[in-house]
Amino acid sequence: MSDSRLKPLKPVATVELATSLSPGEMQDLCDATDAAIENGGGFGWIKLPAREILERYWQGVMTMPQRRLFLARLDGVVCGTCQLTLPNRNNEAQSFSVHLSANFVAPWARGHGLARMLLEVAEKQALSEGFSVINLDVRESQEAAIQLFESLGYELFGTHPYYAKVGDQIIRGRYYTKIIDPALALTMPS
Ligand SMILES: CC(C)(COP(=O)(O)OP(=O)(O)OC[C@H]1O[C@@H](n2cnc3c(N)ncnc32)[C@H](O)[C@@H]1OP(=O)(O)O)[C@@H](O)C(=O)NCCC(=O)NCCS
Repeated sequence: MSDSRLKPLKPVATVELATSLSPGEMQDLCDATDAAIENGGGFGWIKLPAREILERYWQGVMTMPQRRLFLARLDGVVCGTCQLTLPNRNNEAQSFSVHLSANFVAPWARGHGLARMLLEVAEKQALSEGFSVINLDVRESQEAAIQLFESLGYELFGTHPYYAKVGDQIIRGRYYTKIIDPALALTMPS
């Protein structure tokens, strides 16, 4: 018997732009969201929402023309996401930038490179749609996320002293930006 038959198989990590959510995918996405909220990283949610509220939230994301939802899967099971929000049509001055949010991976699926893949796929999608800059913000207490963003070249441009409130604690926020289109970088004054 070869050694490879004794080793546990490496889980398969994938990321895709969501075009629809089957009922099973919706349940997996809601389970992953619950797990992230309970772990303290639920993109704004502090208490677990009722399942129907969560489902309505994700259905809303899927139907909004200005949102792009990315799904992370481990062995096919949806376990994390991030979202891009495109600028409003009237916002011509900021028509080149998108906002990235709702970026989490369920605790059981962490450490497989999925968060990095989510950001890389989101960046490629934003670039392919003609955007040049991604902006995002994060609680100062989310150290793993901060490490991730900085390792991918996101530049800290500001902090917010009263960014979030968890229980009685006010938490600072960090604001990041990244130029994803090298052509924009060339037009920047030196
Ligand atoms: C941040 C988070 C998305 C990382 O998910 P993940 O799939 O485990 O991350 P990856 O395996 O892709 O790791 C990518 C990088 O993130 C950073 N990172 C991940 N876990 C980390 C940890 N526990 N401590 C420090 N850095 C960490 C590292 O830079 C890592 O790169 P490396 O593996 O080369 O060292 C996940 O921990 C999470 O969901 N946290 C709570 C939600 C959150 O903070 N979201 C951001 C709000 S916008």
